[in-house]
Amino acid sequence: MMKVFSLSFFILVSLLGAAQKKCPIIPHPIAANLSKDQFKLDRYSLVKISDPKLTGIANYFKAEIKKNASISLASQPSKNGSVVSLVLTGDKTQNSSITEGYSIDMSKGTIMVAASTEAGLFNGITSLLQLIRLSENKGGTLMLDCWQIKDAPGYGWRGLMLDESRHFFGLEKLKSLIDWMAFYKLNRFHWHLTDEPGWRMEVKKYPKLATIGGIGNFSDSTAPARYYTQDQIRALVAYAADRFITVIPEIDMPGHATAANKAYPEFSGGGSKAHPEFTFNPGKEATYSYLTDILKETASLFPSSMIHLGGDEVNFGNQQWPLIPAVKSLMAEKKMKDLREVELYFMQRMADTLYKMNNKLLAWDEMADVELPRDKTIIMWWRHDKPEQFIKAMEKGYTTIACPRIPFYFDFVQDSSHQQGRKWQKAFAPLESVYAFDLSKFNLTPDKQKLVAGIQANIWTETMQNEKRLDYMLFPRIAGLAEASWRTSNTTKDYGLFKQRLQEHLGLYASAGLYYFDPIAPASKLEPRGPKK
Ligand code: ACM
Repeated sequence: MMKVFSLSFFILVSLLGAAQKKCPIIPHPIAANLSKDQFKLDRYSLVKISDPKLTGIANYFKAEIKKNASISLASQPSKNGSVVSLVLTGDKTQNSSITEGYSIDMSKGTIMVAASTEAGLFNGITSLLQLIRLSENKGGTLMLDCWQIKDAPGYGWRGLMLDESRHFFGLEKLKSLIDWMAFYKLNRFHWHLTDEPGWRMEVKKYPKLATIGGIGNFSDSTAPARYYTQDQIRALVAYAADRFITVIPEIDMPGHATAANKAYPEFSGGGSKAHPEFTFNPGKEATYSYLTDILKETASLFPSSMIHLGGDEVNFGNQQWPLIPAVKSLMAEKKMKDLREVELYFMQRMADTLYKMNNKLLAWDEMADVELPRDKTIIMWWRHDKPEQFIKAMEKGYTTIACPRIPFYFDFVQDSSHQQGRKWQKAFAPLESVYAFDLSKFNLTPDKQKLVAGIQANIWTETMQNEKRLDYMLFPRIAGLAEASWRTSNTTKDYGLFKQRLQEHLGLYASAGLYYFDPIAPASKLEPRGPKK
């Protein structure tokens, strides 16, 4: 009771204080209170940790300060040097949103960042790093305003997906993306590695998946093979883990399998005129062992113990299934009425394979129709025009992630004047809609609300032929996503204040060399064009 009272008091005081100086952190902390003091950060400042477990976080903190503020913090205490203390408190709680919470207490000579878990502590130092990067550096000295912050995320799943099948960006760009995710406290990277234009993951048992399936991209079907070796994948996963980001691979099936079928046509279930060789063959037993082998290698690379199996848009290319004798026998044997039942049967079998590997299954919302164990299945609602699939997933008891096209598909344009991305009739995905997304319109019961793990934005890359276009579509919407996934209700958000804070962040994008859309001065950065076809 006392805790509740003191937190409410803290929030009240901080709201009153908000009339003065604004806390520039995005996502905005639940409570941030300014005091009159200033903290001096320079090469005499020392980082102290309460537990050897925090060495990695302390090293990350120091490395970021070196990289972004060109200050090497002290390795020895000095008489007048300030201290940043990272403290793991004993207060363990089972509630995941609270376990990611943290507090920051800044005074003249000391900053204390405290949390009950390492993930919480990482969030705390991320906030501190934002304050540092947004402060003026005068000859290697930063005078930081002193804030008292108490904070915790609304959602445990704050995700971003990148499609590298359509265009491939490579390890260095991915690391930079992971850095920006960490900066904004996004903690799930969904890696769309396979689709029609290209297969991007080395599989030792089936090397042609990468060397043949990796040839081409959405703009050029003959571009030399691009893919990630298993060593590169392990490196990326470790890089993300150091930033408390979990990486979830997607191996799309039974549709969107074109690149795989180019490499191993013996497992193709055919396609349609618009989508040739689009599916795997669900009637052939060998298809299931082939995919099981692929998933075994996938699971060995990704400690997240979660694999996304897609399951979307199978009807784009399953028209030839009824002509395949093995599919006909399967349908007769299992008394299946239509191709949709074949699709669901396929997914059920592949899901079982995953569960046997102690992995959870993720799938797009078409798969809310399959009967699967609720504790091992996560459904991503993407069809904004089919809210009934979102509700159905929760009615079935599945953990659910909301990533509806509008506003969370970042291949949709963000300004009505833009020509290069998608629109849905006239609808698109401006920053304000990303920022203002919440679930209030669904009037979810508390039981359903509990099943919403979080939200995610998806970067489909048909129109992102190069890094410049990728950056333009992602920045600054990534900042809107961060706040929408941290503060779950619109009643606690304010777009006008967000835009003020964003202004300072745009400066960071510019100094990082990003080509971003400027929603405050839209004409200042014109939409970059992809190469002419
Ligand atoms: C999807 O956009 N096909 C998930």
